[in-house]
Amino acid sequence: MAEHQDDILALEHLGKTFRVGFWGKKVQAVRDVSLTLKRGESLGYLGPNGSGKTTSIKCILSLIQPTVGKIRLFGEDPSNASARARVGYLPEAPYFYDYLKPTEVLDYVGKLYGLDAATRKKRIPYLLDRLGLSNALDRELRGFSKGMLQRVGIAQSLLSDPDLLIYDEPLSGLDPIGRKEVRELMADLRREGKSLFFSSHVLTDIETLCDAVCILDRGEVVAQGRLSDLLRMDKLESEALVELPIADLEAAKARLLALPGVEVMEELANVLRLRLPTDVVPGLTAAVVEIHATLRELSQRRESLEELFVQKAVHVSADGQRSPAAGKSA
Ligand SMILES: Nc1ncnc2c1ncn2[C@@H]1O[C@H](COP(=O)(O)OP(=O)(O)O)[C@@H](O)[C@H]1O
Ligand SMILES: [Mg+2]
Repeated sequence: MAEHQDDILALEHLGKTFRVGFWGKKVQAVRDVSLTLKRGESLGYLGPNGSGKTTSIKCILSLIQPTVGKIRLFGEDPSNASARARVGYLPEAPYFYDYLKPTEVLDYVGKLYGLDAATRKKRIPYLLDRLGLSNALDRELRGFSKGMLQRVGIAQSLLSDPDLLIYDEPLSGLDPIGRKEVRELMADLRREGKSLFFSSHVLTDIETLCDAVCILDRGEVVAQGRLSDLLRMDKLESEALVELPIADLEAAKARLLALPGVEVMEELANVLRLRLPTDVVPGLTAAVVEIHATLRELSQRRESLEELFVQKAVHVSADGQRSPAAGKSA
């Protein structure tokens, strides 16, 4: 067997082409995506709308067939029921019959999963309680907020106590409180040892949720790997706010700017906000003492996922041509 036994999910050169319209015009929704998800890991599948996230997820769940490539789910072909039984899925726009109550939805899904009556009777109240829905048991879903519906969706994804959770845009459409709740819940599930594969077009807040990311742009991987590697932890930058002595302003400023890699971000009278490589910080503090300036603030900044995303995914010029910056990395 080529795959490692800890690989819960492996995609090899996955590609999906749709044919649309009368002329059968090709839409390459996903091209050449390869990735692996190991047991207990959490992978963020990121990209703007239309970049191929949902299409990939549908292939993983065997809801549609890939055009090219191979998928292994728990070492098996994803069309095997035994592999899919270990997956909990939260679709992008969970659709529930809105005249049903939470218990009824979960009972229905539980039956689909083949859970017996005794298991359903035990598991459903537990999950509803865990997701804070116990006080809404008698209400029909049509009166639910998006956040509550999402919690019902998450409850159904957990019914069979699956090992792998595949969530398509679990945070989208939620208000800030709802986002926080779902994020915390996902973090809990991860701590409990579940493996997580989730997509998002919203980057803020997910940094804390995943070990690794795969960033897509128009169906192609533009960056992938462990977050810590991608975010260049080694190339740390710092920010300093320095107040210069008014008497000798220009000379003092020149002294600071002579330090290697120092850039002025903001200048207000005799106050400078500087950006500098972190390893130049000792040199900066020495210079500050020397010129009788005051160091008001010193903080470390790190390339955020948002910056990485913008840098990798949005380098597409107006005529739709990709610039070299959109090439593969990592
Ligand atoms: N069933 C389909 N038929 C034709 N084109 C599709 C179909 N599903 C998705 N697409 C196209 O594939 C691309 C990727 O879509 P999708 O996977 O839904 O992206 P995402 O989930 O990242 O927003 C889009 O251009 C979309 O229009
Ligand atoms: Mg989608």
